Amino acid sequence: MTTFDPPAARGVAVILAAGMGTRMRSRLAKVLHPLLGRSMAGWVVAAARGAGLRSIAVVNHQEDAVRADLAGPDVGFARQPEPLGTGHAVASALEVLPTEGPVVVLCGDAPLVRSETLTALLEAHAASPHPVTVLTARVADPASYGRILRDVDGTVRAIVEAAEATPEQLAIDEINTGAYAFDATYLREMLPLLQPHAPKGEYYLTDLVELAGTAGGAGGLVHHDVDELMGVNDKWALATARGVLQERLLREHALAGVTFQHPASTRVEAGVELARDVVVGPHVVLAGCTRVGEGTVVSAGCVLTDAEVGAEALLKPYSVLEDCRVGDGTQVGPFARLRPAAEIQEGAKVGNFVEIKKTVVEPGAKVPHLSYVGDARVGAGANVGAGTITCNYDGFGKHRTDIGPGAFIGSNTSLVAPVVVGAGALIGAGSVVTRDVAPDDLALGRARQVNMSGAALRVRDRARARKQERDG
Ligand code: UD1
Ligand code: CA
Repeated sequence: MTTFDPPAARGVAVILAAGMGTRMRSRLAKVLHPLLGRSMAGWVVAAARGAGLRSIAVVNHQEDAVRADLAGPDVGFARQPEPLGTGHAVASALEVLPTEGPVVVLCGDAPLVRSETLTALLEAHAASPHPVTVLTARVADPASYGRILRDVDGTVRAIVEAAEATPEQLAIDEINTGAYAFDATYLREMLPLLQPHAPKGEYYLTDLVELAGTAGGAGGLVHHDVDELMGVNDKWALATARGVLQERLLREHALAGVTFQHPASTRVEAGVELARDVVVGPHVVLAGCTRVGEGTVVSAGCVLTDAEVGAEALLKPYSVLEDCRVGDGTQVGPFARLRPAAEIQEGAKVGNFVEIKKTVVEPGAKVPHLSYVGDARVGAGANVGAGTITCNYDGFGKHRTDIGPGAFIGSNTSLVAPVVVGAGALIGAGSVVTRDVAPDDLALGRARQVNMSGAALRVRDRARARKQERDG
C-alpha cells in the first residue's frame, strides 16, 4: 500500500464498502449493484470527486470486483480484514490516509449523496472548532438510524445506535446519516481508543463523537434533503434510489435543452451526453457512453447502448443501436437494428427490419427494408433493395461484401461473400451473386422464367380429379 496524500485534492473521502449486504438477497456485493450505468459505490466516489475529494474505498467482500469497478486515478483502496464495524473499517484505512486535513467518511451504500452536500459539510467542518462534524437529518421515521444527542447549546455529544437506545432516545428524530468530516489528526489519535460493543464485538465509528467530548464535543450539520441520505439495504430501496437518480439526470438534461416526451418511462444512464434540442420519446433507453447530437429525434422505444449519433438525425420508433455510429441527417428505423461497428454516414437511410453489422453505409446510401448487411461497405448513393442479404458467413469464417457507389441491388438478392459489386452496377431482383460484378454491368443470377400457355387449367383439372378419387 502506498501513502495517499494528494496535494491537489481538497481532502480525502473514506468510502465504507466492505460489507456483504445480506438483505439484498443477491450473489452480488451490495455496493456493486448497478444504478443507471454506475455501481452504487461508484455514485459515492463520483459525488466525492465532484466535491474535490479523492477516495479511499475500504473493501473486503468481493474485493477484486469492487476494486476493478471503482479503479481510477483518484481512487485508492484499503482492506478491512474482517467486518468488525464502521470504526474498524475506517481504522483499516489509517495507513493510507493523509496525516492532516479533512477526511470525509461516507457509506458505500448511500449512493444519493450529492457533491454540493459534501462541499457544505467540508465548509461547515472548516468553520467549526470541533474535530468532527456529523451530517444529520430530521426524519419522520428514524427507524434503525443512530440518534443524535445534543447539548442545550446544540453541541453534538453522542450518537446512540437504535439497538442500544433508551425509549426517550428512540423518540429523537434527528438521525446520523453516516456521513462525517473528521480532522485526520483526530482520527489517528482516537481510532485506536475505540472499544468493541457487545454482542458482535463491533467497533462503532459513531463513538468518536462521544470521545470528542473532552475536546468540546462535535458539530452537527442538519441536512434538509432527506432523499439524499437514504441508505440502500434491500432491492426495493435500490429501485427507489434508481428513481431518484433518474429524475436528477433527466432534470439536468432537460435544463440543458433536451425534450423528454415521457420522462417517467425514459431511462438515461449517467455516462450519456445529449446536445440541446434532442427530443427523446417515450420508453427510450440511452445507455453506456451514448452521445446524441443537436436536434436529433430519438423516437419511442429506441434502445441505444454506446451509440454515437450525429445532429439532425431521425431515429424512428423501436430501433436498437449498439456500439455504432450514425451520422448527421440520417434516418434509421422503425425497427432497425444497428450492431457493433455499423457506421451510417451522413444522409444515409436505414429502414424497417434492417440489421447492419460491421458495415459502413456511405453518405446518401439507402437500405430501406428487410435486409441483413454485415461485414460490408455500401457505397455512397447505392440502393439496396428489400430482402437483400449479405451471405457473410460460410460456416468457417466471415467474408466481405463491397457494394460500390451508386450501385443498385435488386430486391431479394443474396450477395455471397467475398464479393465485389462495382460502382453503378445493377443486380436483377432475386439474384444469387457469387462472382464479382464490374462497374456499370448488369448481373442476373437467377433461373430464367418459363411461361406455359394455359397450363394452370390443366394442373387444376388434374388436382380436382385426384381429390374426387380420394373422397369417393
Ligand atoms: C451506521 C451508523 C448509524 C447510521 C447509519 C446510517 C455505526 C455504528 N452506525 O449504521 O449511526 O445512522 O450507518 O446509514 O456506524 N461497513 C464496512 N465494514 C464493517 C461494517 C460496515 O465496510 O465492518 C460498511 C458497510 O458496507 C456499509 C457502511 O459501512 O456500506 C455502513 O454499515 P452498516 O452496517 O450498514 O451500518 P448501519 O447499521 O446502517
Ligand atoms: Ca446501512
